[in-house]
Amino acid sequence: MSGLRSALSGSRGPVGTKRGPVKGKEARVGLCCAGVWGCGPEEGRREGPRRQSPLALASGLVPWRAWDGRAMFGARCLLRALRSCSSAPCPRHRPAARMSVRGALGVQSANGERVKVQGWIRSVRSQKEVLFLHINDGSSLESLQVVADSSFDSRELAFGSSVEVQGQLVKSPSKKQNVELKAEKIEVVGNCDAKAFPFKYKERHPLEYLRQYPHLRCRTNVLGSILRVRSEATAAIHSFFKDSGFVHIHTPVITSNDCEGAGELFQVEPSSKIKVPEENFFNIPVFLTVSGQLHLEVMSGAFTQVFTFGPTFRAENSQSRRHLAEFYMVEAEISFLESLQDLMQVMESLFKTTAMTVLSNCPKDVELCHKFIAPGQKDRLEHMLKNNFLIISYTEAVEILKQASQNFTFTPEWGADLHTEHEKYLVKHCGNIPVFVINYPLALKPFYMRDNEDGPQHTVAAVDLLVPGVGELFGGSLREERYHFLEQRLARLGLTEAYQWYLDLRRFGSVPHGGFGMGFERYLQCILGIDNIKDVIPFPRFTHSCLL
Ligand code: 4AD
Ligand code: MG
Repeated sequence: MSGLRSALSGSRGPVGTKRGPVKGKEARVGLCCAGVWGCGPEEGRREGPRRQSPLALASGLVPWRAWDGRAMFGARCLLRALRSCSSAPCPRHRPAARMSVRGALGVQSANGERVKVQGWIRSVRSQKEVLFLHINDGSSLESLQVVADSSFDSRELAFGSSVEVQGQLVKSPSKKQNVELKAEKIEVVGNCDAKAFPFKYKERHPLEYLRQYPHLRCRTNVLGSILRVRSEATAAIHSFFKDSGFVHIHTPVITSNDCEGAGELFQVEPSSKIKVPEENFFNIPVFLTVSGQLHLEVMSGAFTQVFTFGPTFRAENSQSRRHLAEFYMVEAEISFLESLQDLMQVMESLFKTTAMTVLSNCPKDVELCHKFIAPGQKDRLEHMLKNNFLIISYTEAVEILKQASQNFTFTPEWGADLHTEHEKYLVKHCGNIPVFVINYPLALKPFYMRDNEDGPQHTVAAVDLLVPGVGELFGGSLREERYHFLEQRLARLGLTEAYQWYLDLRRFGSVPHGGFGMGFERYLQCILGIDNIKDVIPFPRFTHSCLL
C-alpha cells in the first residue's frame, strides 16, 4: 500500500490484504462507517460516473478515485447537515468525537461513547479472534488499548504506523487499564516500515543510541516523557513567576553586549554581504545573547520584579555532559532587593515549587526516568526537596576543598575558580543537599556584581547554587547599583563607553537590586537524574554538532 490513509473496517481490509473471517457484524460496521468518512478501497473498485452529486458521494456509492476535493468537502458538509437534522439519530451515525489518548484514559466510567483517536502504533498483538493495538499520541506515557476483531488485521498495522481509530470507549475487563477502545474502523494514515525503523518494539534503547536520531527519538517512551516533563516545567516556571507578581519580559536574542564578559559569543552577520561589503548590517558587531540580564536590569528600573525565559547561546568549546552551545535560561531581576538571603529564597522557592508541580502533574513520566534511567533519583530528589538548602561562603568552600583527602586535578586555592570536581565534592560534603556558595573573589566575576568592600580578600556579592549530579545550576548576584563604584569598574576594564547606557540606569533613580539565571536543561537533569544534557533538549547544539 503506497498512498496515505487506507481504511480497515472489519472484514473490508485494503485491496489485496483482506484477512480473517468475514463476519456479518463487522461487514455492517464497514458499510456504516467507512463508506463516507474513509476512502474505502471497496469504493475504489466500484464502477461509476466521474462526477457525482454530493448526495451520491455522501451515500458512499461512487468510486473514491473520482472524488475531487470540492465534491468531498460538499459531501461531508451535507452529511454533517443531514446528521444534525435527523430527529432520532442512531448513535452509530453520530460523528465520533476526537479525543486524545490522555483524555480517553481519563474517562472514569466509559459507557460506549463513540470516539475517534489518532496516534502512532506502539504495539500490535494478534490473537486468533482478537487484535490488540496500543496507540500513543504523545499526550501521555500510557497508550490506549484498541481491541479489534481479527478481521482488521493487516500488515499495515505495524509498530510506528500512524492510525485513526473510531469506535466505542468501553470499560476494560483487564486490570491493566480502565478503558479500551472497541474498534469499528481503523484507518492507516501513514505506513511505517518497521524493519527499517531504527527503534524496535519492546526494546529499551540507550539514550546515546537515540541521540543519533534527533528526527525520530521523540517517538520513544523515554524522550516522550522527558519532553513532556520539559513542557510541564516550562509552564510551572511561568506560573511560579506569575503567581509571585513578576512581569515576563522578552529580552532580545540579538544583542551588541557581552553580559558575562567571557568572550563566548556567536557573532551574527547576514549570510551574504548586503550592498556595501564592509558595512555591518546593524552598523556595529552583534551577537547571540549569552544572558538577558542587562536587558532585565533596564526593565527593573520600571517594574520591581521581572523575568525572562529563553534561548541563550555560548560558544564554549565543550562537549561536556552539562554544556550546550544553545540552552534555555530562566532569569529574574528584583528591584529594592538588598541581601543575598532574599535572593536565595526566591531561587530555592523556584527550584522546589517547580519540582513539586512537575511531580504532581506528570508523575508517570518522572517515574519512568527515576526507575529506568536514574535508579535512586526519586529518593535523592525527595531529600533535596525536604531539606533547606545550605549556604557557605566561597572562602569556606576553598577551606573544605583544601582539607579534603581527595586529590583534585585543579589544586583548590583562594582566587581560583571552582571546577566541576570541586563542585561535586562540595555537594557531597554537604550531604547531597543543594548548596549556595556566596561571596566570590571580585577578580573572578563579571563587572556588574556588587562590591562587598571587604579585604584583604576582596569579594563581590555573588551566589552560585551547586546541586547533586550537575554542579552549578544557578548563578546570581546583587548588582552594583552605585554609580561611582560601577564607573570605576567599567573604566578599569575599558568598557565605559560601551556601557554608558548601563551607567545611566545608576544616574536616573537607581535602586539596590539583584537577580539570577538558572540553566533550564541543567534543572531538568537535576530533577530527572539524566546524566547528559543532550538528552533533555529536543535538538542539542554543541561543538561540532548541529543536526537538523
Ligand atoms: O552563571 P551564568 O553564566 O550567569 C549568567 O549568565 C547571569 N548573567 C545570569 C543572571 O544573573 N541573570 O549562567 C547561569 C546558568 C548557569 O548556572 C548554568 O546553569 C547555565 O546558566 N549555563 C549553561 N547551561 C548549559 N550550557 C551552557 N553552556 C551553560 N552556561 C551556563
Ligand atoms: Mg556561572
